[in-house]
Amino acid sequence: MQIAPSILSADFGNLTQAVRDAEQAGADRIHIDVMDGQFVPNLSFGPQIVEVLRRETDLPLEVHLMVEHPENWVKPFAAAGADMIMVHVESTPHIHRALSLIHETTAKAGVVINPGTPVSTISFLLPSVEQVLVMTVDPGFSGQHFIPDNLEKVDDLVTIRDRDDSLNYTIEVDGGVNVDRVHSVANRGADIYVAGSAVYNDEADVATNIKRLRDAE
Ligand code: DX5
Ligand code: ZN
Repeated sequence: MQIAPSILSADFGNLTQAVRDAEQAGADRIHIDVMDGQFVPNLSFGPQIVEVLRRETDLPLEVHLMVEHPENWVKPFAAAGADMIMVHVESTPHIHRALSLIHETTAKAGVVINPGTPVSTISFLLPSVEQVLVMTVDPGFSGQHFIPDNLEKVDDLVTIRDRDDSLNYTIEVDGGVNVDRVHSVANRGADIYVAGSAVYNDEADVATNIKRLRDAE
């Protein structure tokens, strides 16, 4: 599986080091949680942070937009160097337009579903995305508890993709993934998992934490 460390759990005073540590430890991509204090009750990073991190690493940067009016933020984040931009289906009445806007840039497009949102909500969007992100916590904060029932959505997404050769999205799981949970995520056939507090914490260094996750897959 691919691992995408989320810098939301890293030391905000040293984000460049956090990204370098992840790259050295063999991370596959960097997950950047963008929050506007409206769609979710927290504030985090703007495009300038992506621009800074772009200079630090060759790893793909994936931006998880948790904002209202996501359409307004597609171009700024793409210009800053995002390789993938993911939009919540719950965040806009015009999700198809938002995904089209992403495809007007060089970035790949992903759609995100909250724990309360069924896969059927995005069935008409699946041909238009390169990735589906399944939330296993209610978005807003790192360090929350994994909601296991949401893995049924991974089953559904794998089945739908297997049935239709024209679909080629990757499936990513985000929220509460730690050494105790990662095996169940891998087992269901997800391609990528996000890990925030399991990678960036005071218990061990980033390389040790990533190795622990890999060993537990
Ligand atoms: C939650 C974010 C997640 C979060 C993951 O709103 O989308 O990416 O940072 O952190 P952990 O792995 O600690 O749940
Ligand atoms: Zn995220």
